Amino acid sequence: MGDPLTPDASRLTSMKIWDSLPKKQYLSLAPWAWVQLESANPPGPFPFVAGVAPEVVASLHEAHTLLSSTIDTAISDVFSKRAPLDDPDRQRRLEDAYAEVVSARPYLQQHIRCGRKPDGTFRWEFPTDPAKSAAVTNGGLRIFHAVKRQAIPIGFDRRQLGPLVGRILGFLDGTHQTDEIKTVVTTSGRDGERVLTQLIESLHQHACLVSSNTSSVRSRWFETVHDMDTVHLGHAALLYRQRDHALLFDPWLLPWFAESSVPSLWGSLLPKPAAVFLTHDHDDHVDPRTLLHLPKDTPIIVPSRRNRRTLSYDYLSLLRELGFGHVIELAHGDCWAFEGGAVYSVPFYGEDPCDVEMPRNCYLIADRGYNVLVHADSGPTNRGKSALTDGVILSLVQKHGPIPLVFASQQQLLEIRGHAAHAPLSPPGKWLDVGENGYLTNAYLADVCTAAQAKLFVSYATGGAEWYPDHLSFMFSRRNPARTALLTAHWERPETLKGLLATQGCGYHYGHALDLFRRTADGKVEPLMTGDSLTPLSLYRLDHGDPPFMKSSYGTTPSRDIDKDRL
Ligand SMILES: [Fe+2]
Repeated sequence: MGDPLTPDASRLTSMKIWDSLPKKQYLSLAPWAWVQLESANPPGPFPFVAGVAPEVVASLHEAHTLLSSTIDTAISDVFSKRAPLDDPDRQRRLEDAYAEVVSARPYLQQHIRCGRKPDGTFRWEFPTDPAKSAAVTNGGLRIFHAVKRQAIPIGFDRRQLGPLVGRILGFLDGTHQTDEIKTVVTTSGRDGERVLTQLIESLHQHACLVSSNTSSVRSRWFETVHDMDTVHLGHAALLYRQRDHALLFDPWLLPWFAESSVPSLWGSLLPKPAAVFLTHDHDDHVDPRTLLHLPKDTPIIVPSRRNRRTLSYDYLSLLRELGFGHVIELAHGDCWAFEGGAVYSVPFYGEDPCDVEMPRNCYLIADRGYNVLVHADSGPTNRGKSALTDGVILSLVQKHGPIPLVFASQQQLLEIRGHAAHAPLSPPGKWLDVGENGYLTNAYLADVCTAAQAKLFVSYATGGAEWYPDHLSFMFSRRNPARTALLTAHWERPETLKGLLATQGCGYHYGHALDLFRRTADGKVEPLMTGDSLTPLSLYRLDHGDPPFMKSSYGTTPSRDIDKDRL
């Protein structure tokens, strides 16, 4: 068992960082510390959107921004009942107002061609280019220490060092000893060695590193989680154990006290993943901070550009910048094989209020005759197309057999398209129409489970852990029931879905972090509580004992936001 490292200032000034760190000990980033890369230039409106040049996106975004108060006024007119809900002239007025904005600005006309044609139809076009993307390059980083509330910046001096930083952070997961980390730093080239040495020095100086002579996290996980078990890690994050491998889906982990007062699951508290699967381009499914801290030899499986219509999300640029070298684009129907089975890419529908149709994946784990569907936020599109109408679920069952365990979001979101994230990339005449933004009705979800021949439906991807932030409208927490009541007042009740599922022999479970799902001998799936064995604090204590801010000898008073009674 080791202790938080106490920096020795005199040795640090002589740059002998490696002599200051304990030899033959496992080194890791303390779970209340993290690193964030910072963009060299202000990122544009849609970082990592590909298929259109960033300057074209900037013009589209500006045209939308110039009309946004007009749109809000038009919405107020409907709310105040001055305007009817269905106004047949609304689309034409919107289009004409948009054309007026563009025609008054030559710099917008460079990128946007729009106007009323002689036949009365509206023309709206912008140039697309599959080779273009709004990739982001980072110019520095900031180290955060949540207990001390410190943020320490380090610049890259105009060098592209994001991938090297991601690589070294991936090594600080408590499974590598000091000498191994030293070798990585000293073999990363002259510029790399300088910045990485500075990073390790700063982490040490600001008490962001912990060490231990044991590395027990993986064995604790695998004592609790058996082969073919699935564990919910909060929100849309899942861990599936495939023999002695951990497969992660949509990991959104948080450093301790980053967003809440409770210790959370964070990179060094999980077993090293054998692969990470990402479903779609939403921040709660692709979290750069989580990914930056994961080991960089991990294969990352993402939706494929082969499934794009025009636009896509540039996973490759993002993941390369974070330091990953092994990114696999998995097109619908293709699979990532493992011994005894594979994970299949399954088409993801909807959660697309403006019909942008970026490629997205659901996943089917097909493992030695046992199947698990990671359905995420997929649901019917604005036109009613879905995995059901296209026979996707049915064909999965025909090919792989029944799918006893289904993970799906139960969100029921509708959105005025002009307020949706990708509105500037969609036809302006529809901005006052309503689009689905993940509208998963009870009937739809019950039908998915019927087609899958499911035995257990797990509702997830709407929170499910106390460590997530409160401000997102699709996240619910037990902390604020009145807010949940306001947001879901007009949603169908979960109890009704539970009843619908019961009639077809399928259970209903609302997923909380660290719930475990295990198949039973009779072909069903049983939800189990993992108790204290996998809680963030008990995982930390395995190798490090009590965190320093729980010891009276520690020189820093924990923030008042940290509720020690809950630790
Ligand atoms: Fe989503």
